[in-house]
Amino acid sequence: MAEIGIDVSFASELLQKGRLVGLPTETVYGLAANALDLEAVAKIFEVKNRPVFDPLIIHTNSIEKVKKFVDCIPLDLELLLRQFSPGPLTVLLPKSKLIPDLVTSGLNRVAVRIPKHPLTLELLKGLDFPLAAPSANPFGYISPTSANHVNRQLGKKIPYILDGGTCQVGLESTIIGFEEGKLTIYRKGGLPLEAIEKLVGKVYLKEHSSSNPAAPGMLKSHYSPNKKVLFKSDFFRENETPELSKVGFLGFSEAIKGIPLANQFLLSKKGDLKEAAKNLFSGLRFLDDLDIDTVLIELVKDEGLGKAINDRLKRAASQN
Ligand code: TXA
Ligand code: MG
Repeated sequence: MAEIGIDVSFASELLQKGRLVGLPTETVYGLAANALDLEAVAKIFEVKNRPVFDPLIIHTNSIEKVKKFVDCIPLDLELLLRQFSPGPLTVLLPKSKLIPDLVTSGLNRVAVRIPKHPLTLELLKGLDFPLAAPSANPFGYISPTSANHVNRQLGKKIPYILDGGTCQVGLESTIIGFEEGKLTIYRKGGLPLEAIEKLVGKVYLKEHSSSNPAAPGMLKSHYSPNKKVLFKSDFFRENETPELSKVGFLGFSEAIKGIPLANQFLLSKKGDLKEAAKNLFSGLRFLDDLDIDTVLIELVKDEGLGKAINDRLKRAASQN
């Protein structure tokens, strides 16, 4: 298993030697490597079992440093970066030659973000290279929101995990970039759409695709537990007298009758979307670990963070 600790200089040393480190951000834990070191980046794909057509986000600690790794920053994207960084925002920018093609899967834009976590910001501040870091989970599985989540799945393959506690946002960053002259959201995430539109006006939403590698990061089936995931409404429509002992429920604020309470996980009893986002992935993991065969889910309010929560829930269910 990996060593877990809060030693930023040890993490820094490992990264400078081309090793991988698990690290905390406000969204989810990342699996980090020196983005300018091809061999180190290749290890990320290997450890995650991630297809190389799925590009990586690079992380750094300031807009000044971002400028070293991109050719330019369009005005609206710079406005967004200035307003919401550090924070759960990723912007797609024309990449400079410094960034290896492996990082961007051959695309000419690189995804950049400044994460909001004191340990990781301290680490990034001391590095003269950006960190490529996807979520620290095996490809297609639920993202990790604690050091322990990372250790359970990737601990055997990496030397160190920087422990920054439980992720405060709990959903991956919102990804935005220009497409055909229009500001486009590529992934709904921890920064709500409403906050973005308040600053830069109406944005366009890119739909998921399971077949178009030119639009990666939007695979329809993702964030999937190993159990069968079904919408509660579909399940009860199709089963009039269901056997419920092997069924679990991931609900928003209210439990449902008939399912053992020990098999139910409520995202926020008080109906708070922020709390629900923070609990989403650990809830899915909790249910995935139970001795059940089906997880029922229900959508939350489709506003603010609820939009990104619902996006993850739908994708978790689309494996079936
Ligand atoms: O919150 C986050 O963004 C976390 C933390 C660790 O920073 N990272 C994360 O990385 O979620 P990952 O690799 O799990 O998801 C990043 C998504 C991928 O699905 C990828 O396809 C998309 O970003 N992406 C990266 N570079 C891209 C690019 N140049 N064009 C389009 N999509 C891109
Ligand atoms: Mg991911």
